[in-house]
Amino acid sequence: MTLRTVATTPFNDQKLGTSGLRKRVPVFQQAHYLENFVQSIFDSISAPAGSTLVLGGDGRYYNREAIQIILKMAAANGYARVLVGQGGILSTPAASCVIRKYQTYGGIILSASHNPGGVDGDFGIKYNGSNGGPATETVTEAIFALTKQISQYHILDAADVNLDTIGTTQLGAMQVEVINAVNDYADLMATLFDFNQLRALLSGGFRIQFDAMHAVTGPYAQEIFVNRLGAPVNSVMNAVPLPDFGQGHPDPNLTYAHELVEIVYGENAPDFGAASDGDGDRNMILGKGFFVTPSDSLAVLAANATLVPGYKNGLAGIARSMPTSAAADRVAADLGIPCFETPTGWKFFGNLMDAGKVTLCGEESFGTGSDHIREKDGLWAVLFWLNVVAARNESVEAIVRAHWAKYGRNVYSRHDYEAIPTEAANQVIQKIYAQFPELAGKSYGRYTVATADDFSYTDPVDGSFSSKQGIRILFTDGSRIIFRLSGTGTEGATIRIYLESYEPDVAQHHLDAQDALSELIAIALELSDLKGLTGREQPTVIT
Ligand code: G1P
Ligand code: ZN
Repeated sequence: MTLRTVATTPFNDQKLGTSGLRKRVPVFQQAHYLENFVQSIFDSISAPAGSTLVLGGDGRYYNREAIQIILKMAAANGYARVLVGQGGILSTPAASCVIRKYQTYGGIILSASHNPGGVDGDFGIKYNGSNGGPATETVTEAIFALTKQISQYHILDAADVNLDTIGTTQLGAMQVEVINAVNDYADLMATLFDFNQLRALLSGGFRIQFDAMHAVTGPYAQEIFVNRLGAPVNSVMNAVPLPDFGQGHPDPNLTYAHELVEIVYGENAPDFGAASDGDGDRNMILGKGFFVTPSDSLAVLAANATLVPGYKNGLAGIARSMPTSAAADRVAADLGIPCFETPTGWKFFGNLMDAGKVTLCGEESFGTGSDHIREKDGLWAVLFWLNVVAARNESVEAIVRAHWAKYGRNVYSRHDYEAIPTEAANQVIQKIYAQFPELAGKSYGRYTVATADDFSYTDPVDGSFSSKQGIRILFTDGSRIIFRLSGTGTEGATIRIYLESYEPDVAQHHLDAQDALSELIAIALELSDLKGLTGREQPTVIT
């Protein structure tokens, strides 16, 4: 085995997005492309000699090849040990769990989350620090800066490592330890939730249907729901992770998890439905014929947290991303705890959790989590909901309706316009910017604009500043329209329009969100001239 230093030249497109670097598989397969990026990670974090790294991915196409390359580079860069998920697979929350449990220096997660996979699908790579959370903006910017000036990388010439058998292999001076992260993760869940109560629920006739969408959570869900909690085997569907996710789009929402949605809205429906995404950090929660918006989910979990053993002493605070509805703010106010509003992306929650300022965090994009790890966590959210259902002995729908009756309903929806030519997307944003000076005080039907701005954030822990995090049009009654460009796509631009209106009147709570928000939707389209500038008549996805 020989150590090699390979001369290389920079690629100019390795800027990290909302969650790591995401590109099409063929881009990653170019000679030196992955290697340049990985070397830039290693150079920017300069792990002390003897450090341990965690490594794994969501099992998508190119996962195994990338892991072999990264292992050989880790060996050549002085790591003493790498913990790899069996088969090269680790869900994002399991990676965060393992980094923390074994106190490693950090980890590399290979995933493009909910983006489709396969030969021509997407691939991605992200770095998480020793707290188990996504690298902060300071770190991601340092990595990007290094990718622009890289001239060489280090790699060990060696045979591939067996990733399928639990145990330790020597790779040069480094040890590769293949671990069963499913057990590590399930053990952590057992410390947070009342597994006895859950076992009684799931083996007692309460029917759940969990859709792993042929992505990473299948084995985790089987271990937890079937093996440990006694649910029938067919409670978990699409449970075998596939490199192309069965040609599906592993994003747990009403559009892409339609197979599950049909079951839960169909005849003889189960009592509870849930799905998770490609890498296991997102969740969708459904009751019998009932959809829980992720913003409501965060608020309901916060309001019921003391029913769950891991949170029985209450919450330090709550954080939500700016576009997420203010439903959680109402719960925080009621509980007398702080609520933080951060930019989009889980990386902004890490400092708040590390500092003990918040316990629960959530994003409207089907992300919910807590300080048990430093990533959002799909199965954790499902278990939390089941624990609340068991403790209250009420249906999902009844719990949400009671919540709305107490706090009012923050009616919410997001409209995505995907794969828009970048120039047209920028024109839409510019069009709204240009109106900023005249918007305040302007009325549209029953809505009057209070302020319009571009969201910026100063991290209360380390003082770092992030600007241009989304346009906010705030109305006097608390309603909001937000425009943002996605930072996770790999083709053109995606415009996201987030719509929220507060409805205190219980008599209106039965309304469909799209109907209740129709006026705001019309205002958003008028303000942005989105149809005129992009030629799009309809959103691609509505959540
Ligand atoms: C999207 C979501 C965001 C989430 C991220 C990673 O990012 O909107 O909330 O943190 O995926 O799952 P976006 O494409 O909007 O930049
Ligand atoms: Zn994800």
